[in-house]
Amino acid sequence: MSNTATLVYDGKQYELPIVVGTEHEKAIDITSLRADTGLITLDSGYANTGACRSAITYIDGERGILRYRGYPIEELAVKATFVETSYLLIFGELPTASQLADFRALLAEHELIHEDMRHHFDGFPPNSPPMAILSAMINAAGCFEPVFMAPDDDEHFMESAARLMSKVRTIAAASYRKSIGKPMNYPRPDLRYTANFLHMMFSRPHRLYEPDPVVVEALDRLLLLHADHEQNCSTSTVRMVGSSHANLYASVAAGVCALWGPLHGGANVAVIEMLTKLLESGEKLETFIERVKRRDAGVRLMGFGHRVYKNFDPRAKIIKASCDALLERLGIHDPLLDLAVRLEEIALSDDYFIERKLYPNVDYYSGIIMRAIGIPTNMFTVMFAIGRLPGWIAHWREVRISDSRIDRPRQIYVGPAERSYVPLEERG
Ligand code: SDX
Repeated sequence: MSNTATLVYDGKQYELPIVVGTEHEKAIDITSLRADTGLITLDSGYANTGACRSAITYIDGERGILRYRGYPIEELAVKATFVETSYLLIFGELPTASQLADFRALLAEHELIHEDMRHHFDGFPPNSPPMAILSAMINAAGCFEPVFMAPDDDEHFMESAARLMSKVRTIAAASYRKSIGKPMNYPRPDLRYTANFLHMMFSRPHRLYEPDPVVVEALDRLLLLHADHEQNCSTSTVRMVGSSHANLYASVAAGVCALWGPLHGGANVAVIEMLTKLLESGEKLETFIERVKRRDAGVRLMGFGHRVYKNFDPRAKIIKASCDALLERLGIHDPLLDLAVRLEEIALSDDYFIERKLYPNVDYYSGIIMRAIGIPTNMFTVMFAIGRLPGWIAHWREVRISDSRIDRPRQIYVGPAERSYVPLEERG
């Protein structure tokens, strides 16, 4: 196997080095391309462009493989917790019992938000999008303890990471309580990460919400499955902002905004909206699929397709199994689940989807689980953000300790050629 690629251009020959990854994936290193040839590359959506070397997550889209720091997602999903997996992603190794205990203690220590932050919620108009609140409140949280905003402070990094993970959960629950006009709940010291979130979401002053262990396990697994996914849009955003040496809170707040888009983390909401519309309209599923194939006004089968996976998204399989188990345990029959299953069957047997290798992705069934738990649809993408937070933190850290250059892509300019200023009176 050659360790260089040959580029022939303008009568000259250039040898470009080949970089090989742990799993033998290969890249052409074009670091010297412009200096040597005057050329840059152009790659819409970066579908063929590696932005970095990373040791955090590996995806093989053709074989439907996903591993966090080398551990298969199928193993972590059944053997690990979200907090344990977060530690693995951020620090690179599964924690020992004492490391896990210390990390949990830091999460507990930082689970409250500053009392003055409670008033920030009053500043948002009713029905403010929870992702707007989340992004704003993450930066606000950084202002209350500036020591954690110092981007290069190694000594505080672990505490800063735990603080952010813990408070994002509290902020999310508080924004929900605010949206339904109910008092915010303080975290309970006797509850762990996910159970405490459910308590903060659903407890009432006169009646504590006692988290059902089955519900806690299903939500904890859902968060774990969202914890990282290499260079997706929002993680790449966090990396890019972090490359300017912006602090962790600013970088993560930017990632929240990128995740918000319906083509990315907002798809879990779009799936439920799509299924609800189908249920209410009674449109035949085969008719809807034909409209998708015709691309009527941008109609897409939301929750299907992926830039990297050209096989089943392994997370979708695990989420579907978890969904079935939870709904059975709770004795819930959700007609949207029936619709989703039938739509999947129709799509997976249709050449349009087969030819384009479109399969269910992480967002296709996740909303059904969250509905069963009682999480409102407008909080679904916030849940994705809570899950993805350890991945964002891990990637921000990887950028900072790699001491890489600031991200600054090039472009091909297609605007007007040089021209002179026209005085206002001569512009017609
Ligand atoms: C996430 O990157 C990540 O890892 C993201 C994520 C993570 O964990 O961070 O996995 C989370 O964002 C999952 C994706 C959630 N989004 C959706 O479910 C929205 C619906 N899916 C699509 O919009 C689309 O599949 C994307 C955005 C996910 C991927 O877009 P690409 O890679 O740019 O693919 P494309 O739009 O170029 O599609 C290729 C072809 C096109 O047809 P042709 O022009 O070749 O004829 O497939 C078609 C598309 O029209 N297509 C779809 C489709 N997705 C792609 N047609 C109908 N329904 C769809 N969902």
